[in-house]
Amino acid sequence: MSESIQRETWATRIGFVLAAVGSAVGLGNIWRFPFQVGEEGGAAFLLVYLLFIVFIGLPAILVEFVVGRRTDRNPVGALKAIGGDSWKYLGGLFVLIGFVILSYYSVVAGWVLRYTVGSATGGYTEDPEAYFGTISTGLDAAVFHLIFMAIVVGIVALGIRRGIEIAVKLMVPAIVALLLALAVYAYTLPDVAGAYSYYLSPDFSVIAAEWQSILPAAAGQAFFTLSLGMGVMITYSSYMSEDRNLGEDAGAIIGLDTGIALLAGLVVFPILFAAGVDPASPGPGAVFVSLAAAFTDIPFGLVLGFLFFFAFALAAVSSAISLMEVVISYLIDEHGVDRVRGTIAVGAGMLLLGLPVTVDLTMVTLYDQLAAEVLLVLGALGLVVLVGWLKSEEAIDELSKGIGDLRSVGTVWIWLVRVPVLVVLVVSLALAVTSYVDFLRTEFLEFLGEL
Ligand code: TRP
Repeated sequence: MSESIQRETWATRIGFVLAAVGSAVGLGNIWRFPFQVGEEGGAAFLLVYLLFIVFIGLPAILVEFVVGRRTDRNPVGALKAIGGDSWKYLGGLFVLIGFVILSYYSVVAGWVLRYTVGSATGGYTEDPEAYFGTISTGLDAAVFHLIFMAIVVGIVALGIRRGIEIAVKLMVPAIVALLLALAVYAYTLPDVAGAYSYYLSPDFSVIAAEWQSILPAAAGQAFFTLSLGMGVMITYSSYMSEDRNLGEDAGAIIGLDTGIALLAGLVVFPILFAAGVDPASPGPGAVFVSLAAAFTDIPFGLVLGFLFFFAFALAAVSSAISLMEVVISYLIDEHGVDRVRGTIAVGAGMLLLGLPVTVDLTMVTLYDQLAAEVLLVLGALGLVVLVGWLKSEEAIDELSKGIGDLRSVGTVWIWLVRVPVLVVLVVSLALAVTSYVDFLRTEFLEFLGEL
């Protein structure tokens, strides 16, 4: 196996946590999270999501950590080493998922870049809604998709060492500070009480009535935001030393990621309510439109807007890198592909696969639902079976390194993985497939008919 540049990256103890946080915090927190909350019934969804983060996300991130640290390999090699030859297909699925996710992630991240520029030029101040309409599709979107992909290719081709570590160190505090400032501003808006109650007081009858769509959406969002289900955390933890306490690292990563998502909700919902946008059907554009409207209104808004979208773009870059790195580490390790050439080729392929997404917002849903709710859950399911049921002793042994005597924690963890996590994944997957087929037969067919 060739040594990739990334293997030396976690020379500093904090390097791993930073890179993992950089991967976790991204479009999922600031863009995807609020519109999922809106679409799935507000606080009811939030509650299910938080339960999933703790009872599904935490056990699942530890599963990926032990696999990566045990094997020191890319996901395909790691699964082969742990489960035997036939498990490499699950690793192959991971690589494929990375390909699909980054292809549309880059389109949305292109919007973020565009809004960074728009803040500098004041482009969105006249009519935030019309602005989003213009830049989110067509040539505009394709150009910024290309620019974002080129940035990611550039960084991954060079290796990610200091550049990304420094970016992440600046980015996380910057995002938190800006979101806090915006949350304070949002608190001063009219109808903030209505927004808070929509966001924070769950209506249990909504859960009962709509659990078939809330469950897979909450599971998909939990996996998406924590970068789980396709081997990012396997790859990153394969560069880590044995004396780390994996439980502590998992807690730090999950805590930061969840905190940033919750904060984004405190910003977005009051702004949506104040603007009179229906929070229940916000769609992929709402966050952009509402934030642009807010930045237009407040003193020094464009300066704040520029800083915000810039930090947001950095967050998207550090997530995109992790997606690309899974594909590239596989090509380098298993096929001896040259890093630079491989990265350029993969970037070009993802660019093409993402182009249809610039045609219409329906295409965002087509890619996003498939990736988050179906593919990530499927990937996690495979891992959970392998680690929870087939290789649990090794898993507990690996978890104990750097912690010491686990007492009953190891057993509790494995049983969480074996039963509740597995059951939730199976149920979510079945529901997600059904609703995806539904989407294809209705909304997507209609969209094709209009073309
Ligand atoms: N977690 C990132 C976000 O919230 C996106 C991401 C990076 C991701 N790597 C991933 C999602 C792996 C799923 C799987 O924006």
